[in-house]
Amino acid sequence: MSGASPTLQVDNLETHFFTKDGVAKAVDGVSFAIGRGEIMGLVGESGSGKSVTGFSIIGLVDPPGRVVGGRVLFKGTDLVTLGPEGLRNLRGNRIAMIFQDPMMTLNPVLRIDTQMIETVRAHDASVTEAEARARARDALGQVGIPSPEERLRAYPHQFSGGMRQRVAIAIALLNKPDLIIADEPTTALDVTIQGQILYEAQKLCRETGTALIWITHDLAVIAGLADHISVMYAGRIVEQGSLDDVLDRPAHPYTRGLLGSVPGHNTRGRRLYQIPGMTPSLLRLPGGCAFKERCPHADRACDTAPEITRPIEGRLLRCVHPQLGAGSTAP
Ligand SMILES: Nc1ncnc2c1ncn2[C@@H]1O[C@H](COP(=O)(O)OP(=O)(O)OP(=O)(O)O)[C@@H](O)[C@H]1O
Ligand SMILES: [Mg+2]
Repeated sequence: MSGASPTLQVDNLETHFFTKDGVAKAVDGVSFAIGRGEIMGLVGESGSGKSVTGFSIIGLVDPPGRVVGGRVLFKGTDLVTLGPEGLRNLRGNRIAMIFQDPMMTLNPVLRIDTQMIETVRAHDASVTEAEARARARDALGQVGIPSPEERLRAYPHQFSGGMRQRVAIAIALLNKPDLIIADEPTTALDVTIQGQILYEAQKLCRETGTALIWITHDLAVIAGLADHISVMYAGRIVEQGSLDDVLDRPAHPYTRGLLGSVPGHNTRGRRLYQIPGMTPSLLRLPGGCAFKERCPHADRACDTAPEITRPIEGRLLRCVHPQLGAGSTAP
């Protein structure tokens, strides 16, 4: 994190789901900060709490879930205590979220131009309709939609799934927000388009100072794109640092397992490493380190929950046996 005060600072965030089978601590003491123009990748397997972290930041957690602790400082304002009205004003204005499902952004009964022009003018009423339309057209072009002028007149159902997602992304980029939270928005798109969209998002961040959280289960997607990375496991961040550093010298056995299962990271011809076992249910976590039952380095010391340490400059780790100084391929 660079600069004076971060765009977003999350401190010890806790979001719990109060289910009939017990309390699931989906977000359990998560902290990170992102400065202007910076990109953070939030990575972890399915069920690790990535989406709930994103929803918690913008106040979109529904019962039985609730933010029960911590702070979310957006340019100094705590969003946890801001209230629904204030949050609504920020969303779609200074903070945009891109969801896995584009229909969470798009209104099925309105033409794309109506939706995009409305979005621009809700943010700045002094923009004329013609200007807003021109901006909408440019935004569609930016995310690789051919014939944007013509496509503006279509309804959401007239686009393919991938094209709909690109429209939703274009809408998120429209007002050049201070913060974008992108929750696996490109998973369903082909690799070339993913690359193009990530490139556009990165360019926007660099040019306008937008801070970006890119949520993904796939480390390969954010390699070369993010500045920082936070690796989540069972509701907690287990490793955090600059992207290059973590990719070159991953120290948490879970991060090493994730990296080992990325195609292209391994030496050619070697079998891809798979982390053994499955993500445990949050209602039945083992005591101590939540990863210990899948970890090749676990021993008695892991029966005590590991504290956050800083064993290398700029790196946060939650592990009693960090793999410091080892290569990047063995778990
Ligand atoms: N509506 C809900 N009711 C109860 N528990 C929930 C609910 N939504 C989420 N959870 C709990 O929160 C955990 C984290 O969910 P989350 O959606 O954040 O995972 P994720 O990391 O985004 O996974 P994926 O990669 O599959 O999108 C879940 O494993 C579940 O235990
Ligand atoms: Mg998710």
